Amino acid sequence: MSKKRVLTGVTTTGIPHLGNYVGAIRPAVREAQNPDTESFLFLADYHGIIKCHDPEMIHQSTQAVAATWLACGLDPERTTFYRQSDIPEVMELNWILTCITAKGLMNRAHAYKAAVQANAENGQEDPDFGVEMGLFSYPILMTADILMFNANEVPVGRDQIQHVEMARDIAGRFNHRFQELFTLPEVKIDENVELLVGLDGRKMSKSYGNTIPLWENDKKTQKSVNKIITNMKEPGEPKQPDESPLFEIYKAFSTPSVTAEFTQMLAEGLAWGEAKKLLAAKINAELAEPRERYNELTSNPSQIEDILQAGAAKARKEARELLNKVRDAVGIRPLK
Ligand code: ADP
Ligand code: TRP
Repeated sequence: MSKKRVLTGVTTTGIPHLGNYVGAIRPAVREAQNPDTESFLFLADYHGIIKCHDPEMIHQSTQAVAATWLACGLDPERTTFYRQSDIPEVMELNWILTCITAKGLMNRAHAYKAAVQANAENGQEDPDFGVEMGLFSYPILMTADILMFNANEVPVGRDQIQHVEMARDIAGRFNHRFQELFTLPEVKIDENVELLVGLDGRKMSKSYGNTIPLWENDKKTQKSVNKIITNMKEPGEPKQPDESPLFEIYKAFSTPSVTAEFTQMLAEGLAWGEAKKLLAAKINAELAEPRERYNELTSNPSQIEDILQAGAAKARKEARELLNKVRDAVGIRPLK
């Protein structure tokens, strides 16, 4: 029986945070350790330049995201680990898929719709004001990432579900129009993990400066955790899980039974300050070893680059084979 293929990427727009870790990195690395899976994990730097126009940040973040994957347990011997921009085949597939993707499908993508809505709210007459084609076509590039390696499963946070569904749609359309070359991917969400909320109440995101970063020391993590929004309830007053985003973070770092105990403690009046100490302790315990590895890795960037180059060579071999079939299927082939 052939192995299940798992694939996911992280954009290189900043320093990874708790949301990236629990939403994508931790589940993907766990799945990659399963002997019945074959995994493709990568740095989405071409996606990075859509949202971030600071070249230094893209560059620094590429190193940080790569070191994060490795520090969190990715084994480059077992996983095909690479940087998206090192695989030109992905870009070629991106164009071929662009040619078969309905514009109407892209009109429905969340990120584009949010930009249009923001324009309307700001009284901007042009609904597309400030929208670049990278943002508009973002889901097609993500589709190319996924289909290039015929992934069966894509572990992501809940904000990415729509994009994986679009990848299924586009794969089906290609298969129907030309030839059955692509696997229809399925999204994989960790049941125990919600989309984590950041320190300003919006989704925790590298792009919003509202994160709890993964790689700070224990004290700084406690400081960030102390900034999580709570209400004014006093120690001793009963509290509900939905009264602060700290609960979902605690849940993401605990087993269901430990989360149930925490819920009980809140109901019995646990002070928010105490709850924050318990949360920071959980995060710091789980990340203690990865943090040591991260510091070692980032002190030797050329070693990271070598690992990425080796991964790219493995990935390209695989990508080339499928791309040749795709080119042939659409009629792009030699004359003899
Ligand atoms: P960011 O918004 O921080 O730039 P990315 O777009 O690079 O994050 O996302 C990488 C992965 O991390 C994706 O699978 C995404 O769903 C997941 N992720 C991002 N933010 C969160 C969050 N706040 N909670 C859970 N998962 C998240
Ligand atoms: N778009 C994803 C995000 O912002 C990152 C990403 C790019 C990705 N290509 C992918 C995730 C392919 C899964 C599969 O989070």
